[in-house]
Amino acid sequence: MGKENRNTIFIDEGQVHSIREFPDRQYIMRIEAPKVAATARPGSFVHVRCNPKIPMRRPISLMRVNADAGWVEIYFKVLGDGLAALSDTAIGECVSILGPIGNGFSANPESKTQLMIGGGVGIPPMLFLAEHLNSDPNHDWSPVVFMGSESPFPFDLKASGIELSGIPADATGCLPEMEDCGIPSRLASQQSYEGVHKGFVTDLAAAWLLANPELQANTEIFACGPEPMLHAAAKLASEFGIDAQLCLEEYMACAVGGCAGCAVEVHTPNGTSMKRVCVDGPVFKAREIYVQ
Ligand SMILES: Cc1cc2nc3c(=O)[nH]c(=O)nc-3n(C[C@H](O)[C@H](O)[C@H](O)COP(=O)(O)OP(=O)(O)OC[C@H]3O[C@@H](n4cnc5c(N)ncnc54)[C@H](O)[C@@H]3O)c2cc1C
Ligand code: FES
Repeated sequence: MGKENRNTIFIDEGQVHSIREFPDRQYIMRIEAPKVAATARPGSFVHVRCNPKIPMRRPISLMRVNADAGWVEIYFKVLGDGLAALSDTAIGECVSILGPIGNGFSANPESKTQLMIGGGVGIPPMLFLAEHLNSDPNHDWSPVVFMGSESPFPFDLKASGIELSGIPADATGCLPEMEDCGIPSRLASQQSYEGVHKGFVTDLAAAWLLANPELQANTEIFACGPEPMLHAAAKLASEFGIDAQLCLEEYMACAVGGCAGCAVEVHTPNGTSMKRVCVDGPVFKAREIYVQ
């Protein structure tokens, strides 16, 4: 582990409290992890041992943490052997997680609206950020949340009662977890899901920005999701002249800064350099990743 990460990344071997299964091999798992929960930030992630027989851990974003109760919640979609093994873990069994890792999102207190765009397995850090800002006793943040998924959303969607101007008429549904604490949210998919806009999640963000010109100058974008979605979010930010932070989900080996396997090219005013997504990110400014 690199020197800079000593005493900030911990190992918790905690019991699985609950695991809920959703279509398309999606899971939400709650794990006892008091040390990780104590210092986790939105955008930080954990490196999970999926099964003692599988040596490579898998990086998974934190979706929800409760520092008082000492647990973390993750949402994952099975692609291969690692997460398939993790999904087989029974309640009460222990899972080893290393974290919290990485530099998370940092919202600008001067911004008026925090526009969140999450896609697929990029949804969890956006939920964490929205709930974190909403419960901040020291600042009055105004998150607006747009989520996209090509699998059925792992949430019990409901019709929204919070108005959002400019949004396409087919986007009527919302995430109850957001709505219930007053955060407006809308959903998008290429699939035909009831209450969900048929199109890209960035279409919703663009429609909202266009309909709210008075808010454009004071809006900040936060995004996590597949690369084409991140690119579209960065383009949107550039077109509207607003700042954006992107959370990257590169393949990782060590996840603690030691192997450089996750390095990406980053553009700064001083030139181009390579940064490790695991410990220098996973959150970067959009203009550091995409030159528009
Ligand atoms: C910071 C971060 C946060 C993440 N958060 C989440 C999350 O919250 N939820 C979630 O579901 N996923 C998340 N991911 C993605 C997840 O870690 C990967 O998709 C993981 O590899 C899936 O594990 P698996 O065992 O299901 O599949 P794997 O066995 O890892 O295989 C997945 C697919 O990727 C291919 N693959 C594996 N390794 C490589 C490689 N080095 N290069 C190219 N292709 C490769 C495989 O062939 C296969 O098609 C995150 C990733 C990062 C870096
Ligand atoms: S995964 Fe090893 S340095 Fe990032």
